Amino acid sequence: MKFQHYFVESPEEGELITIKETIRGHRFLFYSTSNIFSKDHVDPGTKLLAETMVLFDEQKVLDLGCGYGVLGIVAKKVCPSCNIWLSDINELAVKYSKINAKLNKVSVNVVKSNLFENINEKFDNIITNPPFTAGKELIKKFILESYEHLNSPGLLQLVSTKKFRYVETLLKRYFDDFDLMFKQGDYLIYVGIKSGSKK
Ligand SMILES: C[S@@+](CC[C@H](N)C(=O)[O-])C[C@H]1O[C@@H](n2cnc3c(N)ncnc32)[C@H](O)[C@@H]1O
Repeated sequence: MKFQHYFVESPEEGELITIKETIRGHRFLFYSTSNIFSKDHVDPGTKLLAETMVLFDEQKVLDLGCGYGVLGIVAKKVCPSCNIWLSDINELAVKYSKINAKLNKVSVNVVKSNLFENINEKFDNIITNPPFTAGKELIKKFILESYEHLNSPGLLQLVSTKKFRYVETLLKRYFDDFDLMFKQGDYLIYVGIKSGSKK
């Protein structure tokens, strides 16, 4: 099945794929395989968020829908004092995130979870490239449930594209404030702000 990574929790594993990337001055090696999002290159939207995401010392950070772990692993390299969590519904994504954390010598927590089902934690910062192909209802849950699992103050930093302008409507509806932080080609990076005081 095409796009198994969006709909199957235990997809088939294929051949090992290696990806090399330099992000924020650090060189990374990622292992990947079939049925993980963007299996043979770092997605340009993911790379833009990884290059631009804002992290503060000692924050508790979640990479929600982590794939093979790019955002969470970069976050730990950039902010060694941060407490970084990665989660995904896809078992292969969880497996390869754990492998890639070791490969890149970072210590992070990796959890298999459908949204926040297995995560009884709150975070200061949530970073995500959400699964747009799975449809608007799931994106709505990514945004609303992120708000509910953020401390106050807290930030949701997410990738979108010009095609998915409804993200702005959802951020406006569920967050206390939001901003379009970066644009590059079709890619957009938004930040949703939880301040505890909805305007
Ligand atoms: C667009 S991909 C981004 C992957 C990775 N963060 C990256 O940037 O390369 C979205 C990810 O969300 C995961 N996902 C889809 N539905 C999910 C759910 N209900 N709960 C948690 N993760 C989910 C997918 O398995 C996929 O890895």
